[in-house]
Amino acid sequence: MGLSAPVMSTLKTPEAIRGTQDIFGADAEAFAHVAETFERIRKLYRFRRIEMPVFEKTAVFSRSLGETTDVVSKEMYSFDDRGRESLTLRPEFTAGIARAFLTNGWQQHAPVRLATHGPLFRYERPQKGRYRQFHQLDAEIIGAAEPQADVELLVMADQLLKELGVADDVTLQLNTLGDASSRDAWRTVLVEYFMAHRDSLSEDSQERLERNPLRILDSKDPRDKELTRDAPQIDDYLSGEAQDFFGKVTQGLDAASVEYVRTPTLVRGLDYYRHTAFEFVPEPDSPAAKKMGSQSTLLGGGRYDGLIETLGGSPTPAVGWAAGIERLAMLVGDQAADPVDAAIVPIGDEAMTRAQSIAAELRRAHYTVEVFASGKLKKRMSRANEAGALAALIIGEDEIASGTVQFKDLLSGEQQALKPDEVLEPLMELTTARAMKDLESEVADLARLIDEDS
Ligand code: HAM
Repeated sequence: MGLSAPVMSTLKTPEAIRGTQDIFGADAEAFAHVAETFERIRKLYRFRRIEMPVFEKTAVFSRSLGETTDVVSKEMYSFDDRGRESLTLRPEFTAGIARAFLTNGWQQHAPVRLATHGPLFRYERPQKGRYRQFHQLDAEIIGAAEPQADVELLVMADQLLKELGVADDVTLQLNTLGDASSRDAWRTVLVEYFMAHRDSLSEDSQERLERNPLRILDSKDPRDKELTRDAPQIDDYLSGEAQDFFGKVTQGLDAASVEYVRTPTLVRGLDYYRHTAFEFVPEPDSPAAKKMGSQSTLLGGGRYDGLIETLGGSPTPAVGWAAGIERLAMLVGDQAADPVDAAIVPIGDEAMTRAQSIAAELRRAHYTVEVFASGKLKKRMSRANEAGALAALIIGEDEIASGTVQFKDLLSGEQQALKPDEVLEPLMELTTARAMKDLESEVADLARLIDEDS
C-alpha cells in the first residue's frame, strides 16, 4: 500500500533553540569518531570513565569558576526549580567533578584519573564553532601534586589531536600562572600598570580592569595588544617553587617529544587555575584556523590546586583539560559510516519475511546488514554498492520457490544460488579479505609515519 498524499498542516513548527544543533549524517559520524577516539586513548592512559549530572546547585559553579568570570556573570543557564532551589545547567565539567570527588568520598581513591564527555550549556553569542549547547571531552587527575600529572595530561592531549589527524598547524601554547602568592603579586602590578594606561585601553578592557584584569592579556583588540606587549610578565614574580614546578613540566614535555610555545599572555577564562595553563590553538591563517572562524581554541586546561578548597574540601592538587567536540569534529572532516557487509534485496511480500529471518541470523553472527526493501531493483543495487556492501542477497520469486537466495559478490560480480544456511561461509571469506586489506593499509600508514619521523 502506497503512502497517501501529504496534507499540509496549519500548525507552526516550533523552531530549535538558538545556538543548539541537530547533528546528522557525516557531521554526526565525525562527532562519534572524536568521542570514540577519546574513549580509546583515555584507556591507554588509564583514565576511568565517569558519568556526571547535567545540572548542579548554582553555588558549585559560582564558587569554583569565580563570580567575575564571563561564564558565571553572563553565561550560566540558572533557574529556580519547583522546590525554589537555584540550579544551573553545567557550563563545564570540572567544578561538578570536584563536587562529586568531595560528596562521594573519592578521596580514598586519590589520585583519581577521570574522563567523561557530554553536553554543556553557556549563554554565549552563537557563531561558527560557538554554541549554547556544545559538547566537551574532559580529562581530570585529582589528588596529584606532581608535575608528572600535568605532563601526562598534555601528552595525552597531544596524542588525541595527532590520532584525530588535526594536529598539523595546531600549537600547544603553554604558560604558568605560578602558585597563589606569585599570581597575586603579578596581578597587583598588572592592575597598577593598566591603571596607569587606563585611557588607552579598549572599552571592554577598561571594564575587565575592574572585574577580571588578567583577561586584558588575551584581548584581541589592537589597542590592548599594544599595551600588553610591555606589561609586567609573570616570570618576574614566580616563586622559586613555582619556577621549579614549571621547569619539570617543560622537561617532561621535552622528554615525551611534545612541542609547545611558551605564551606568557595565556591566562584562561576561569579563575581556578594555578601553575600550568595551556591551550591547543590553530596557527593564524592556517587551513585549520580558516575552517574554525574566530572561535579557534580546540582544547584548554591547567592545574587548579585551589578549587577543591573553595568547595569546602581540604587542599587537594588537581589538573585537567577539556576539548570542544564540535570544534574537533569540524577539523576531522568527513567520516564514512561503517560499511555494510551484506545487503539483502527482497522482491515481494514473501521474500520480505525471508529477508527478515536471514538478516536477524546474520546480525546475530555480528555481520552488518541492511535490508534494501523498496524501490526499483537497479536503484536498490546501487544503494547497496554505495553503502559499501560486499555481497547482495537477492530473494525473488524463483528463490522463494526453491528455498534459496542469490548470493552476489559485488566486487567480482559472481553470483550463485545458496541455501540460507550456506550464506555465512562465503560472507565470512569476503569480510575477512576486507579486514586483511584494511590491516595492510594501516600497517603501511604506520610504516610511512615511522619513516617520516626518523
Ligand atoms: P574552557 O576553555 O572554557 O575550559 O573550554 C574548553 C573547550 O571547550 C574550549 O577550548 C572549546 O573547544 C570548547 N568550548 C567552550 N565553550 C564552547 C562553546 N560555547 N561552543 C563550542 N565549544 C566550546 C573548560 O571548560 C575547563 N573546564 C577545562 C578544564 C578541565 N580545566 C581543567 N580541567
